[in-house]
Amino acid sequence: MNIIYKFEDYLKKEIKRIYPDIRDDDFFLNLELSPDTEEGDFGFGCFGIAKLLKKNPQDITENLSESISFPPYIEKVIKRGPYLNFIFDKRFLIEETVSGILKEGSLYGESKWGEGKRILMEYSSPNTNKPQHLGHIRNNLLGMTLSNLLEKAGCKVVKINLINDRGIHICKSMLAYKLWGNSKTPENTGKKGDNFVGDYYVMFEKKAKEDEKLIVQVQEMLKKWEEGDKETIELWKRMNSWVYEGFNETYKRLGAEFDKIYYESETYKLGKEIVLKGLEDSMCYKNDKGEIVIDLSEKGLGEKVLLRGDGTSIYITQDIGNAKLRFDEYDINSSIYIVASEQNYHFQVLFEVLRRFGFEWADQCYHLSYGMVYLPEGKMKSREGTVVDADNLMDELKFMAEAEVKKRARDIEGEQLENISEIIGLSALKFYVLKIHPSKDINFNPVESLSFEGDTGPYIQYTHARVSSLLRKSGMYGDDLAIFTKLGNKEEINIVKNLLNFPKILISSAENYNPSRLANYLLELAKRYNKFYHDHSVLNSGDEELTSGRVALSKSVGIVIKEGLRILGIVAPERM
Ligand code: ARG
Repeated sequence: MNIIYKFEDYLKKEIKRIYPDIRDDDFFLNLELSPDTEEGDFGFGCFGIAKLLKKNPQDITENLSESISFPPYIEKVIKRGPYLNFIFDKRFLIEETVSGILKEGSLYGESKWGEGKRILMEYSSPNTNKPQHLGHIRNNLLGMTLSNLLEKAGCKVVKINLINDRGIHICKSMLAYKLWGNSKTPENTGKKGDNFVGDYYVMFEKKAKEDEKLIVQVQEMLKKWEEGDKETIELWKRMNSWVYEGFNETYKRLGAEFDKIYYESETYKLGKEIVLKGLEDSMCYKNDKGEIVIDLSEKGLGEKVLLRGDGTSIYITQDIGNAKLRFDEYDINSSIYIVASEQNYHFQVLFEVLRRFGFEWADQCYHLSYGMVYLPEGKMKSREGTVVDADNLMDELKFMAEAEVKKRARDIEGEQLENISEIIGLSALKFYVLKIHPSKDINFNPVESLSFEGDTGPYIQYTHARVSSLLRKSGMYGDDLAIFTKLGNKEEINIVKNLLNFPKILISSAENYNPSRLANYLLELAKRYNKFYHDHSVLNSGDEELTSGRVALSKSVGIVIKEGLRILGIVAPERM
């Protein structure tokens, strides 16, 4: 446990001693990093306590500062209105922090915050009619990172992918292949399976503009599919297997993993049953077209079809079934859906339907809605076939990274060059996407994302590689022997305070489902370290004790950066 948590616990005990009316779980004490070092290192506001005791926060500050018997490592207590700030004994702060991180290694930052939280995280969830695009990349990255964050914070996480593998859109690519496929396959054309199938989807959309009969044929095909027609099912299986092969390649490259894959084709029937039961219970009604409709106008959501007139299911039908299945199959207390903001309405309706149908877990469902991703060319299109393909984008970034690496290190070549370019390209993409708050739109700029000097993934990786190189050169690995007595300049202290804040940043990123907090924290840490590195000599400080302390400090920065990047799904190479 780091010193900030220890001090928090200590303060809590003292506060309860001074105000015996306050109970343990009545208030939450959160020491925050002070923005201005002159005003203290860490501090907290007395609002919560004041509210409990119905007193003025300033009086509380006053009383606490006089009544608490502060531990010896607190050098000074500063009152600032409703805030109490503390200046720590620097030598103590440095030694506790750095030796703590060296001891804990990558475990540093783990917490018990999430104890008892069992979360199901749905992410990715593509349709099987086309390859994944830039929007899916954002989705996958949010899902991967949030799972890592929540796990690090002590939650139990089940990662699932819900594949929409049936429905009208899937029949479109199937019909196009049936009509114009000429026994081509991914194998005999050398195309990646998801791209192969996606081409037929695009082909369908083009031809359907000229021929209205095609859409009727598609509807017939869906009907046949739902009736289990052998030939239709066979075609469907064959084409989907091509798509899965393609998806798996993309997932592997991105680092996306799932504990369970749900297929809409396996769960839509359950949805149908629930809707029909809802009809019986008069939760919904049948309109003159034979559609089953629910009236949510009371909630401002209008009327919503839950099942088509011909009895076939739609998108929401399967979601109703699948939502229940999750709670049946997993012991969870929340179910998160990572899906783009375009579907906000869909999820408002879905959760309201679940509530009306009487599922007690309906309120434990949460839509994590995220914004659009734009490329310099404009919005990504999917229907017209001018999509920014996820694989192409990764290829492009790798290619650009390679040029960058060659510029810097001429001696890297062959497989080594390949590997490092892939790692840097992915980090550029991932970091750029993750450093922005999920709800905001992103204008992805590939050139900017790769800059070694900007607010980028490669910049942070580079900082890590710098630390690694320093450690190699120092030849000092005996962490226990590190001497901290000479550390204490402003830059060093700032780094230490940032390191101390890592566990809290992780929790607040997890709690708010916001990886951008962690991403921006890592940027700040890297910048601070680089400033320190620039202003002070580590290996040639001219003083062995000083060098020993600075090497240890550098090493702990390396540990935190590496672990932070791991959570963001980014590899931190030793050399760049
Ligand atoms: N497959 C859908 C799409 O591509 C997204 C599915 C989101 N998840 C869900 N449970 N509805 O638009």
